[in-house]
Amino acid sequence: AKPARFARRLPIPVPVTPTPMTDEHGDYLLYEITEQSTSTQLLDPGAPLTQVFGYAAAGAAPTVPGPLIKVDQNTRVRLRVSNDLPPIHPTFGYEVATSVHLHGSASLPQYDGYADDLTGPGQAKDYWYPNHQGPRTMWYHDHGAHQTATNVYSGLVAQYHVQNPWEKENLPQGKYDVPLTIGDAMFAKNGSLAYMDRDHNGLYGDVITVNGVPWPFFEVERRFYRFRILMATLSRSMNLRFVNTRTGATLPAFVVATDGGLTTPQPITSWRHGGAERYEIMVDFAGCRIGDRVELRNSSNKNNRDFIHTGKVLQLRVTSEPTDTRWNSVPTPPSSELHEVMSAPRSAALRTRDIDLEHDDETNVFMINGMTWEEVRDAGWNVFTDESGSPPRPGDYEIWRIENNSGGWFHPMHIHLVDFRILSRRGGSGRVQPWEKGPKDVVYVGEGEEIEVLVHYAMPPAQYPDGRSTGQAGANGHLGGRYMIHCHNLAHEDHDMMGQFVVAAADG
Ligand code: C2O
Ligand code: CU
Repeated sequence: AKPARFARRLPIPVPVTPTPMTDEHGDYLLYEITEQSTSTQLLDPGAPLTQVFGYAAAGAAPTVPGPLIKVDQNTRVRLRVSNDLPPIHPTFGYEVATSVHLHGSASLPQYDGYADDLTGPGQAKDYWYPNHQGPRTMWYHDHGAHQTATNVYSGLVAQYHVQNPWEKENLPQGKYDVPLTIGDAMFAKNGSLAYMDRDHNGLYGDVITVNGVPWPFFEVERRFYRFRILMATLSRSMNLRFVNTRTGATLPAFVVATDGGLTTPQPITSWRHGGAERYEIMVDFAGCRIGDRVELRNSSNKNNRDFIHTGKVLQLRVTSEPTDTRWNSVPTPPSSELHEVMSAPRSAALRTRDIDLEHDDETNVFMINGMTWEEVRDAGWNVFTDESGSPPRPGDYEIWRIENNSGGWFHPMHIHLVDFRILSRRGGSGRVQPWEKGPKDVVYVGEGEEIEVLVHYAMPPAQYPDGRSTGQAGANGHLGGRYMIHCHNLAHEDHDMMGQFVVAAADG
């Protein structure tokens, strides 16, 4: 039997408390996280337990999703991750190794979760994050080469928020600021996760989870909420909307932030949400009556596999009048709070690069510019078929033209290090959609589409602890180095739709 719908309460992640440190690296916050295997009541009470991998905060049990990290902008973080996982995956039987990527952070290459920078069971690694970018919803997840899909599926996923004064003042906080991490899964009869990936097309589970619980419910007041929605599915994309089940009406919603942070609010009634995208959506329940039920629903999206209950996601129960009147309207950020990529003209681009997405029908692998990750790695190579020969530098703008020639697949493409603005979309759905107008680091590339994005290479801050121990540091502490670009359908990424590009150190 499938888990019951809307029977269990939505778990709300509480930010973990770090240890403030002052030492030879300066002032920073230390977070210690352990990767552990555990069994959990993912299915209904009484049904078998499920073996998962989770991130555990110091002194706490592992959870799925993992501990929420919430920090102020420009607070440096040292994340120590210890791999305490079994050497062989208990469900899928491979040799486990991990790499942690903070998705949305402009991290130095050695802290960016490079797929081949692996930490095995019994080992630990420190990751340093500057958090110098504006407020945004990021997430950390596993990135181990050729096992990202199954490591993430097993539970190695968590949200990470950067805050700043404007955002704290103007966007809903506390109990009105609700992280929603959406996943999907399939289960074997004995309760273990089942991974069924036909032809590397991906995993489309018949059970939808939010914050690690199948189809939960959440009680709301009659006022505005801010939902930080992360699509942490391996492959599934959704078309989402909030529906009042009494009236059948769709609730008005506003996109207030996208992957790379704040946006001029965009009114929407529904939105397409691809893998790894983050949309911060404000929804007003003031038009509901006490006792109303609102459902977050998913309507079918092309080239996904639907099951009987995959149209349902979350139930919101309107149970009380507002107990707090703060942050109860949709604010418009001043331009000084918006990402620079939002106002940069097209002419700011120094070069144009072409990214071609392909599928080899004989070997059944996906490629970027004709190469698989294996080939990229072995060649020490670059995704750019580069006419100019010049590597990008921090602060540069470029236009990337991404063309989907892979046949009948969509690909949520993610570029590490950078943020971008979507300039144009041709073919397929044919336009830049209202919800994707803010700063982005993932773009949904639909079947047969060609997309142009204006890419901005982030400029890491001047002082960076430990960044100088390897490689050749530039004057501003930025080492230059290798960053990945890949499809965030993690089955595609693992087979073998990932490449890398090389960024020069800032000073030459
Ligand atoms: Cu969210 Cu390279 O990944
Ligand atoms: Cu893909």
